[in-house]
Amino acid sequence: MYKLVIQGGKPLKGTLKVSGSKNSSLPILFASILADTPITLNNTPQLSDISTTLRLLSSMGSEWILESDSSLFVDSSTLTNLTADYDLVKTMRASILVLGPMLAKYGKAKVSLPGGCAIGTRPVNLHLQALEKLGANIEVRNGYIYAKTKGLIGTEIHFEQISVTATENIIMAATLAKGLTTISNAAQEPEISDLCQCLNKMGAKITGIGTSVLNIKGVKNLNGIQYSVCPDRIESATYLVAAAITRGAVTVKNTNPQVMHAVLEKLIEIGANIKTDKNSITLDMEGKRPKAVNIKTSTYPNFPTDMQAQFTALNTIAEGHSVITENIFENRFMHIPELIRMGADLTLEGNTVVCKGVKSLTGAHLMATDLRASASLVLAGLAAKGTTTIERVYHLDRGYETIEEKLKLLGADIERVQD
Ligand code: UD1
Repeated sequence: MYKLVIQGGKPLKGTLKVSGSKNSSLPILFASILADTPITLNNTPQLSDISTTLRLLSSMGSEWILESDSSLFVDSSTLTNLTADYDLVKTMRASILVLGPMLAKYGKAKVSLPGGCAIGTRPVNLHLQALEKLGANIEVRNGYIYAKTKGLIGTEIHFEQISVTATENIIMAATLAKGLTTISNAAQEPEISDLCQCLNKMGAKITGIGTSVLNIKGVKNLNGIQYSVCPDRIESATYLVAAAITRGAVTVKNTNPQVMHAVLEKLIEIGANIKTDKNSITLDMEGKRPKAVNIKTSTYPNFPTDMQAQFTALNTIAEGHSVITENIFENRFMHIPELIRMGADLTLEGNTVVCKGVKSLTGAHLMATDLRASASLVLAGLAAKGTTTIERVYHLDRGYETIEEKLKLLGADIERVQD
């Protein structure tokens, strides 16, 4: 097992390129199931969640080739095994995204229930109810979802709660359904728009992209295409926070500031000087200590839950008090006890953390728990005095491509070492 060893206290300075979006690549890879011919996906990040997706697709009969560092050729046009096994699904909850495409294309699917995870119970009821409305017959037994249909039929679907992957699953299912599907109270995350644009290029007829009401006119078949996934806004924001927490100055390139308003507003509030270009963002702290900011997570376009842990780390060393409220996942606070071990003054009450900024953190031996919590520990380690060691780095590798290499480019003292 690998661990990261960080000597903290160095202001990060320089420029780095952001990778393609994980949360965009995953649904698009699953959308390859819908196509009658292969797809080529550019700008895909090399992450363990991508490898898990490819292993899952292979186990069902897909073939794929990594053509260059970030270009993937995927042929899922003929699946031979319509089952997503527990062993792979348990390692990545987004595997539930096989369900909509398999059902739409083959009229049949057996998918393991993903189960809970470190950040909450994370049920899939919204996915299943909406697929039933589209005409699927669904049974859950022995830990598996058994779904079948004689043909999905377009209908009106109103989500009682906003869900990113449920919206994606239903969009994909509806592309091959008969007639019109209208989804209201759809999630509006940029990664959903990216999926819709890719599906339209494949021949789907989706309108209302980027809004909470989507209309999907079913088509008979979809074709493989070449598509480039959008930049990863969470990775971009994480490196901007790395610059802020170390009082440095960093430019992130190959990104899209247009989809990062909520995060950029908060970075301005902490006192950072922010400059944006079409594809890049520069954050300069001008050596100043950040000011504390209150955070409330919500659905897009509001502040993303995937940046809550990183901003909590930032608040620990900021000037003043802050309140961080997590409204999306009930248990997304695994980083709190670890940050407290570094000297942070944090009090957790229900879904709220009260943070009193301290002058500095001290390095400690830490355990990574989930993806974004782990990122917050790396950020805290970069700012802390002394050595921080972070175990279970595999959580980070799910969502951050070569994190230590990118941080080294910015002057961080960080090494990946084997136990
Ligand atoms: C996606 C993102 C994840 C992000 C999250 C919220 C991907 C692969 N993952 O996860 O990075 O943190 O959106 O922005 O894109 N819920 C139900 N029933 C359901 C589905 C969801 O109750 O059937 C609840 C969840 O437990 C949670 C809330 O709805 O409390 C939102 O979750 P959801 O948007 O579905 O998150 P994911 O799509 O799993």
